[in-house]
Amino acid sequence: MAKPTIYLTTPIYYVNDRPHIGHAYTSLATDVLARFKRLDGHEVFFLTGTDEHGQKVEKAAQDAGEDPQAFTDRVSQAFRDLTTTMGFSNDDFIRTTEPRHKAACVALWKVLAERGEIYLGDYEGWYAVRDEAFYGPDELVERDGVKYAPSGAPVEWVREPSYFFRLSKWLPELLRRYDLPAGAPDRIDIEPESRRNEVRAFIQQGLKDFADRPEKLDLSVSRTSFTWGVKVPGDPAHVMYVWLDALTNYITAAGYPDTSHPRWRFWPADVHFVGKDIVRFHTIYWPAFLMAAGIAPPKRVFAHGWWTNEGQKISKSLGNVIDPVALVEEYGLDPVRYFLLREVPFGQDGDFSRKALANRLNGELADALGNLANRVLSLIQRNCGGMLPGAGDPAVGGALAGAVQALTGQVRDRLDRQEFHLALEAVMASVRDANGYITHEAPWALKKTDPVRMAAVLRRLHSALRAYATLLQPFMPGTMAALLDQLGVPADARDFAALAMPLPEGTPLPPPTPLFRKIDLAAA
Ligand code: MSP
Repeated sequence: MAKPTIYLTTPIYYVNDRPHIGHAYTSLATDVLARFKRLDGHEVFFLTGTDEHGQKVEKAAQDAGEDPQAFTDRVSQAFRDLTTTMGFSNDDFIRTTEPRHKAACVALWKVLAERGEIYLGDYEGWYAVRDEAFYGPDELVERDGVKYAPSGAPVEWVREPSYFFRLSKWLPELLRRYDLPAGAPDRIDIEPESRRNEVRAFIQQGLKDFADRPEKLDLSVSRTSFTWGVKVPGDPAHVMYVWLDALTNYITAAGYPDTSHPRWRFWPADVHFVGKDIVRFHTIYWPAFLMAAGIAPPKRVFAHGWWTNEGQKISKSLGNVIDPVALVEEYGLDPVRYFLLREVPFGQDGDFSRKALANRLNGELADALGNLANRVLSLIQRNCGGMLPGAGDPAVGGALAGAVQALTGQVRDRLDRQEFHLALEAVMASVRDANGYITHEAPWALKKTDPVRMAAVLRRLHSALRAYATLLQPFMPGTMAALLDQLGVPADARDFAALAMPLPEGTPLPPPTPLFRKIDLAAA
């Protein structure tokens, strides 16, 4: 039976700025899961792109002295280039200024309007352009006579006619869905649990505060004070609220409004990957829009934490923004990919430091994995004529073989929970065991005393390395392809199912070359 299709998304990135480590991080996590699911036999659709409308982008274009379309064309390209630099395997790259997307927004708006989910009113409130979000008066902080949102963005008082979405009507249904048991078909799963609790408490507080006038919880979904956006059908003085526009990208790319489109079978999304700052939009507004339009909401939203740089908040004004392109140039792509997902539990905040990077890469990649591969493959070259030995006595290395066999299931379970660091830890724990095993057996000494045992030991270690390389492909595609080449694994035998089929005895192996280079911080 075919395995279920999987739809994974990154946020679409604002084009007001150059790509930085935060953008690379969200997309990297999505890429690793997409690659993993493909190797596990699923059909995957992986979407990323750029968010190009709204006041924030309009301002950025003005500041740059450019026409907004020319400006967004230029900056969007930098994000597209990042997908190449970082080795992302996205199946599509969506821009919200594309005709297919504007058509989807208009179609969704019309459905919402026809169903009576949108009405015209007046909006007054505190708006932060930087966040493209409204805030309640009690959420604001004042410094030197200026009011700021909790995010630190300055707010301004906005008053204008506006269309409203009946968000209030959907809040109880959202609460019901968040709390359905794991596996229930209607469940909207918010992870980590701390974020789910936050979102639930936020809605409950709103419902309590506005019990007598719930319409106060409705959401303003159009603006008349600027024009860089999708025009509201039938009322061109209004442009759609940029978050309604942006969130719709996830169904545009699946073919909406054409629900007979071949890609529509991927909807609803399996996981929307987001940063912790944009959880509310994805877990409240977005599923409410969809339910109101009669479309299934996403199954799961996972919010990761934020990076700091050597202990400091990352900001343009501090000048400590980490450029992913420079990082990859300095350390190589796969080590950077490995570090970002290994160092910090996904979902928590983490600190980027050169020392931590050097420790991880030297200790785990160069010393543990790299040396294991080099020792095993050099011994096969020298002592077995460069030919893969046969299986030998199953009792030799039986414990290691059993543990390696269980590894695919363990890594799959971890990744199904987006526990990237634990998936890597599981593989690394096995690599450490394999290093212990080779030291204990000392196959280099067995050549003279027991060559039959030596061959069986090397074969066992070769099989372990093949499993590590296969499972680590989603994290380090280039380096693991090189390792699989050195292990003599044909290109069509690199998915997880192929691990059950042993390579034939006598497979010729090329002479090994080192996979990882050590980082010398003192020399930097
Ligand atoms: N355009 C919206 C998303 C719309 S999705 C329908 C947006 N764009 S963004 O470019 O500002 O941010 C995109 C992502 O980058 C967010 O998920 C955010 O959490 C992430 N990061 C920005 N800075 C970050 C760090 N310092 N660390 C980790 N991720 C961070 O929001």
